[in-house]
Amino acid sequence: MRKTSPIGVFDSGYGGLTILKGLRKALPQYDYLYLGDNARAPYGTRSFDIVYGFTLEAVRYLFAQGCPLVILACNTASAKALRSIQQNDLPRMADPGLRVLGVIRPTVELIPSVTRSGHVGVLGTPGTVASRSYTMEIGKTSPDIRVTEVACPLWVPLVENREADSPGADYFVGKYLDTLMQADPAIDTVILGCTHYPLLYPKIRAYLPPEIKVLAQGELVGNSLADYLLRHPEMETRLSKGGDTRFLTTENTEKFNPLASLFVGHPACAQRIDLTNTL
Ligand code: DGL
Repeated sequence: MRKTSPIGVFDSGYGGLTILKGLRKALPQYDYLYLGDNARAPYGTRSFDIVYGFTLEAVRYLFAQGCPLVILACNTASAKALRSIQQNDLPRMADPGLRVLGVIRPTVELIPSVTRSGHVGVLGTPGTVASRSYTMEIGKTSPDIRVTEVACPLWVPLVENREADSPGADYFVGKYLDTLMQADPAIDTVILGCTHYPLLYPKIRAYLPPEIKVLAQGELVGNSLADYLLRHPEMETRLSKGGDTRFLTTENTEKFNPLASLFVGHPACAQRIDLTNTL
């Protein structure tokens, strides 16, 4: 019988924990191996080449741990690295069955059924917004939907520095939401197009009028993966089932563990790793 392994989940830092939560809710039976590159976060202000290089290092690391499937639980990596990895790197790997999936496609697929006004706002990192991935992907299937993207460069540092709940965060939450709503007052759906942003959800929700929908990605990515595994039994049989989650971080584990514990609902004990020495 073939060896089975966890699903790899990767983010630049803490943001992917919001996706992990959605994955565990939709698919609690599987094992997960989470990797946060906290030491090199944020990715959102970095160039295409750097994000691609860092993401590829992380994906290779998770493959080397046995994960046959890696979820890029990061919009910046999904926007800047996913396509290159899928088209150029995966075909060169010894195991032709390895897969990498992102978070933008499942989000975009849901949009036509959510917006009524046909005006959608996307909040993301400078890298995601500059890539125009959301505008292009939504435009492919729903050219009538108007997409407005706004970069929120200070939101990820607030989360990575554990300041998301602080009163100081209010100013920057209001600042970027004002920019978005002034750019298109007809927006009725706001996509949190960065997996760190759900940690600011209470402040974002409280600032926007209640009729505006705020879409976080955790649950929808979980449901989308459940659907993917139904359509791909060859992958499903390679995944281990035990409901276990392990954590890896490139930073200090004392910083990482409390937040990870909060997300999984039990004490998490991460292992610190070095991605720069793995190639
Ligand atoms: N959480 C990531 C995203 O969804 C990246 C944040 C960052 O490192 O800037 O884009």
